[in-house]
Amino acid sequence: MDLYSRIPNNVNLENDKKLQRALEKWLPNYIDWWREMGPDGFQEKDVWLRTAVDVGSEGWAHFDYVKMPDYRWGIFLEPAQPDARVGFGDNFGRPAYQEVPGEFRNALRRIIVTQGDTEPASVEQQRQLGKTCPSLYDMRNLFQGNVEEGRHLWAMVYLLHGYFGRDGRDEADALLERRSGNPDKPRILEAFNQPCDDWLNFYAFTMFTDRDGKYQLSALAESGFEPLARTCKFMLTEEAHHMFVGDTGLGRVVRRTAELMKQGEDVRDLGGIPLDVIQKYINFWFSYSLDLFGGEISSNSADFFAAGLKGRYKEQEQYTEHTAANQLFTMTVVEDGQLKEREVPLRNALNEVLRTEYVKDCEKGLARWNKILHEAGLSERLFLPNPRFHRHVGEYAGHYFDIKGKQTSKEEFEKHESEWLPTVEDREYVRSLMHPVTEPGKIANWIAPPAAGIKGKPFEFEYVRL
Ligand SMILES: [Fe+2]
Ligand SMILES: [Fe+2]
Repeated sequence: MDLYSRIPNNVNLENDKKLQRALEKWLPNYIDWWREMGPDGFQEKDVWLRTAVDVGSEGWAHFDYVKMPDYRWGIFLEPAQPDARVGFGDNFGRPAYQEVPGEFRNALRRIIVTQGDTEPASVEQQRQLGKTCPSLYDMRNLFQGNVEEGRHLWAMVYLLHGYFGRDGRDEADALLERRSGNPDKPRILEAFNQPCDDWLNFYAFTMFTDRDGKYQLSALAESGFEPLARTCKFMLTEEAHHMFVGDTGLGRVVRRTAELMKQGEDVRDLGGIPLDVIQKYINFWFSYSLDLFGGEISSNSADFFAAGLKGRYKEQEQYTEHTAANQLFTMTVVEDGQLKEREVPLRNALNEVLRTEYVKDCEKGLARWNKILHEAGLSERLFLPNPRFHRHVGEYAGHYFDIKGKQTSKEEFEKHESEWLPTVEDREYVRSLMHPVTEPGKIANWIAPPAAGIKGKPFEFEYVRL
């Protein structure tokens, strides 16, 4: 098989023997990892998948039946901008970095490894879900996300192999060695060590945790290190589908629950997922996903911005002033055990700035789900918990806040925890509903069918040939 059919790419891999050798050494380890930690079962089944084959705004993807191990994990970067410049920070306006700048080498490697680690982690978290899919359509979407997260790992590994030396190669190997939820060799970020073993978890994960990915990738798409910016821009085109799966998935659960609520009996007796359980899953994944942005006050965020490595969301579109120097940001911090307002240098608050953009985006999802409840004539509403609630990273970690963000004691928090976060019983109940529905056109009882199929195909299409 020629090189392009093994590793489709637009990075001129044919002419880069060193990189070729490195990637060809890494490829068999990757396939081993995929077989061991990728979707459990279904590896020999035909799945109707899209494969990235180009980066053009039209026709970048090809749809066909593919067995997952035969999916071609390619390397695609957005085309280079002639005369690209560093778009922010202390080196604003200088030519973009085409090689790793020596003084930022460690910071850049850390950014790439941290992003790269999330990609295989999510595949590991979701590996059992095929067995309990609510429909073939959903099963296909699950596997689509899985192969694309695999490709995102390739994207980061390309940067490690292509732009770093031995340290890059070692990091690329380590990305295949860590395991989600394994206490001895866990994934780097905590949201990626949480179990995602039922479909309600899956939709909440793709809604909230993949959406963190959108914001991290968007900030890195602004990077002055041009290969990283170009890589992330293309990843974002695939990421949109993952968030669509989460957003519409939760919407479909809400729609079905609303239908059952209107029948006037207990939703549980009718085999649906009660709204309060949906709310608790939202609380859980939203709060863990907020942690992914890092501390509210962060010297890393200041350093990454100053160096021109990681920008703000839509830095070029949204801002006219790109140094963010000598500006202040007011945030709520915990001082002597009390909530207080404090002014901090803007550059140190950029994690919080990015998080705020993310929260705004999440709220749009909530509005869509509440519209479904409204249209069903129900008065109940879903909401996002206060960002201080249930945090394990940053300013609010180690303190207790209720769902509305009011400071509380450990005892009070624990008294109410079962109202706010999924209990063992909630999780067991949700799991008890998870029976596979694999007949084309059929759907599980606890979720509504999607409004449309994929790429013009009807919902009844045989998305996976079992
Ligand atoms: Fe990804
Ligand atoms: Fe994703």
